[in-house]
Amino acid sequence: MKLTVIGTGYLGATHAICMAELGHEVLGVDISPERINALNSGEVPFHEPGLAAKLTRNLADGRLSFTTDTAEAACFADVHFLTVGTPQHSEGRSADLSQVHSAVTALVRDLDGDHLIIGKSTVPVGTAADLQRMVDQLVGPGTSVEIAWNPEFLREGHAVKDTLHPDRIVLGVAPGGTAENRIREVYARTLDEGTPFLLTDLATAELVKGAANAFLATKISFINAIAEICERSGADVTQLADALGYDTRIGRRFLGAGLGFGGGCLPKDIRAFASRAEQLGATGIPGLLDHVDRINLGQRQSVIDTVTASFDDGDVAGHRVTVLGAAFKPDSDDIRDSPALVIAGSLARSGARVVVHDPQAMDGARRILPEITYTSTALDALKDAEVVVLATEWREFIELDPVVARSLVRRALIIDGRNCLPAQDWVDAGWDYRGIGRSR
Ligand code: UDX
Repeated sequence: MKLTVIGTGYLGATHAICMAELGHEVLGVDISPERINALNSGEVPFHEPGLAAKLTRNLADGRLSFTTDTAEAACFADVHFLTVGTPQHSEGRSADLSQVHSAVTALVRDLDGDHLIIGKSTVPVGTAADLQRMVDQLVGPGTSVEIAWNPEFLREGHAVKDTLHPDRIVLGVAPGGTAENRIREVYARTLDEGTPFLLTDLATAELVKGAANAFLATKISFINAIAEICERSGADVTQLADALGYDTRIGRRFLGAGLGFGGGCLPKDIRAFASRAEQLGATGIPGLLDHVDRINLGQRQSVIDTVTASFDDGDVAGHRVTVLGAAFKPDSDDIRDSPALVIAGSLARSGARVVVHDPQAMDGARRILPEITYTSTALDALKDAEVVVLATEWREFIELDPVVARSLVRRALIIDGRNCLPAQDWVDAGWDYRGIGRSR
């Protein structure tokens, strides 16, 4: 099939490349010439395992190309995926839909004949129906555009697998909509693997994504709230989570207590979801998610407080603090709303001499926190540290030798913000080891 993918951020670039990988002819569109040039020359503008090889192969095979020209996209195909960003509004917590509106307006202007626009961006419920009304007014005579919604659940770091082999495919269509057959054709290979396909109305499809994010965020904040009780009572939240996880109704995933969730999606998505729920007059979700958000942000503050309290005078000024990690999670160079950098930035503003190392995310970190020292290895970052905060669970940090690390620091205090280190090994090597919600 011939497809366009409008918006080549994390979601769109991955989707375009993976649709070509499924054998389709794909044109990716973006307003940023730098991004389009990078993609056309085989460069993925972010760190995502496995994606670069697929980009290069599909460019070379001629199935994939990228353009800034929306008019070209309008002629190229009659199925268009919409994958632009929906960031948090600069004022308030609702989603900023300006990219959605401008991308659809620009595309529709040049459409001729019958077209399908399939939204994948995370949007407030009601957006697809609004867009349908908008395009109905914009299209010229003899042209029809159907809006359908196919939410995307990919995780950074697993984006290729999540796109090619998703847990499920959800498609929302308006009454009388005809999108189902074409979507089944797009995802034929994936559906042949037995992937569940759920056909819903537009509102349900939009809400599935918001609800999934809200549930995941709630699960993380739930275990962090339990971690607080564990800390106060001498219990161990990691053992507790293991025990909970064996209950198949609960499951162990997303019960990792620690610095909580960050990144470009979960935090802004739960705020937009709460905001939309409030607009609709629903009372349960706004209250629940405000609390989830507050618990989550509290995890970062609690580590900042532990670092500060570790100094006799309760002041970090002049002290050397090492933060291991800058990305919001491992296998990613994404620093958006990264707990690691919030902690590093806050301690630096209080006068600490902060040193950071991250295997992938230091360029981005340097741009937003230039006042911090960055080292090219983790061991360099540890030199003379008075406190070490492990903020992102990269494998190379988990595998650090605590004896070697001990020989480098001035004071052997480590705060394991992701509960990922072998605690006993660090204690045996002479470290004061502090996890989140665990006595050891
Ligand atoms: C998330 C959703 O998983 C995905 O479905 C949605 O489409 C976009 O948002 P992503 O942002 O890539 O994906 O990250 P994810 O792997 O879900 O992790 C989110 C955050 O939660 C990370 O900061 C991670 O460190 C944190 N997390 C995860 C925990 O703190 N504890 C856990 O047990 C799991």
